Amino acid sequence: MSSSPASARDGFSSGFGVLAATLGSAVGLGNIWMFPYQTGNNGGAGFLLIYLLATLLVGLPLMIAEISLGRSARTDPVGVYRKLAPGTLWWIIGALGLVSVLLIMSFYSAVVGWVFAYVGKSVSGGILTQDRSLLEQTFGGLVSNPAAALGWQWLVLLLVGIIITFGVSRGIEAVTKRLMPLLFGLLVLVALAALMLPGAMEGVRFLFLPDFSRIDGQVLLKALGLAFFKLSLGVGSMTIYGSYFRQQQNIPRTALTVMLADLTVSMLAGLAIFPAVFALGFNPASGPALLFQTIPAVFASMPLGHLLMIVFFVLTAFAAIGAMLSLVEVPVAILHERLRIERARATWLTVLALVGLGSLSALSSSTLSHVQLGGMNLFDLFDFLSSKLLMPITGLLTCLFVLLRWKQAGFVAANSNEGALHNTGLLRAVFTILTKVTPLLILTVMLYGLL
Ligand code: PFF
Repeated sequence: MSSSPASARDGFSSGFGVLAATLGSAVGLGNIWMFPYQTGNNGGAGFLLIYLLATLLVGLPLMIAEISLGRSARTDPVGVYRKLAPGTLWWIIGALGLVSVLLIMSFYSAVVGWVFAYVGKSVSGGILTQDRSLLEQTFGGLVSNPAAALGWQWLVLLLVGIIITFGVSRGIEAVTKRLMPLLFGLLVLVALAALMLPGAMEGVRFLFLPDFSRIDGQVLLKALGLAFFKLSLGVGSMTIYGSYFRQQQNIPRTALTVMLADLTVSMLAGLAIFPAVFALGFNPASGPALLFQTIPAVFASMPLGHLLMIVFFVLTAFAAIGAMLSLVEVPVAILHERLRIERARATWLTVLALVGLGSLSALSSSTLSHVQLGGMNLFDLFDFLSSKLLMPITGLLTCLFVLLRWKQAGFVAANSNEGALHNTGLLRAVFTILTKVTPLLILTVMLYGLL
């Protein structure tokens, strides 16, 4: 990519650059950390199937809508609605997204901090073992140590601030683009090693043989929330990246490619983790700890495991930072384009806010573990408020915006590149799904899951 969102109305200049950046936003801890643990917590294949449906019927149409809205207005996620519907309150969609971004960044940066810590632990080699209790203790020790949890998180936030200020984002995206295939290849290797462990097939069954007895309203809502989180929807990230898209880019095709590539990475992560969970006697419902406890055990069974484990955590850190850049871009673009605050200052203001907000998540298993709301600590609460409440609501409002304001003609014109792409029949079908099926599904799942 020869240009990036580093300066405000800069844009992605090559088709591959667009794809790499959008994929960089989608692929991250959601695939490697959240997808496996949520699948494990919610009964395996049944959850996976619902998540796939949500991705297809909610995620894909909304990704197309958000990107095309961004490209049509070419401004920040609040400005988009002010421009396309002046004098109305639709800009609230962008504002709600901003709130989600702040909540997500709070816990996401804490988890990226854990990944950084595990890079360190991989180098020292202490975690290269199949000793379950040692792996559990190591993870428990990290999250319950306030200084370690905060220190790693702040380091991550500092790094993100530096990357954005120095415009290294260009470099980082170039690097991420090259590392992505490497991460992919390594996941294939880890999955193969995991599948060779004695007893691994139990994990494959767990991932692919649905047990629908575990499905209830809450599980449906979690699968929907994961679909939003995974494809960076309902927060403004895809809208702001869309605003940097080239005019001639085929948006529906880009969205489809990103969705498929993203699903592939998640499935590989699932195949790397669940066989090991069952072969080595871990609990599939270990929650956020799952990745950090099982992956080292798989590497312990592999030739060159020590080196490959270091590479794995480094690549995961890169993927996570790529996703974080697209999150931070939302407040930075809003501060810069709405409030005319200089970009570097907007970045550090955002980082400062995130140090404060993020600390609440990082300390939620130690100093602040007594702060609970509805049985959730702050980390879980921020996850709940963003993925299960605000993102679906924002998605629903986006569908309504397309239906009521943009209408079929606006949607089809934007996505067919003003008729240049001749795919209008297909686009009318996507419009119908986006404005009828998607909102109905979101509404039903939300009502069912929350009540
Ligand atoms: N999609 C990212 C992941 O799965 O790790 C997380 C994410 C990035 C969520 C950007 C939301 C967002 F706006």
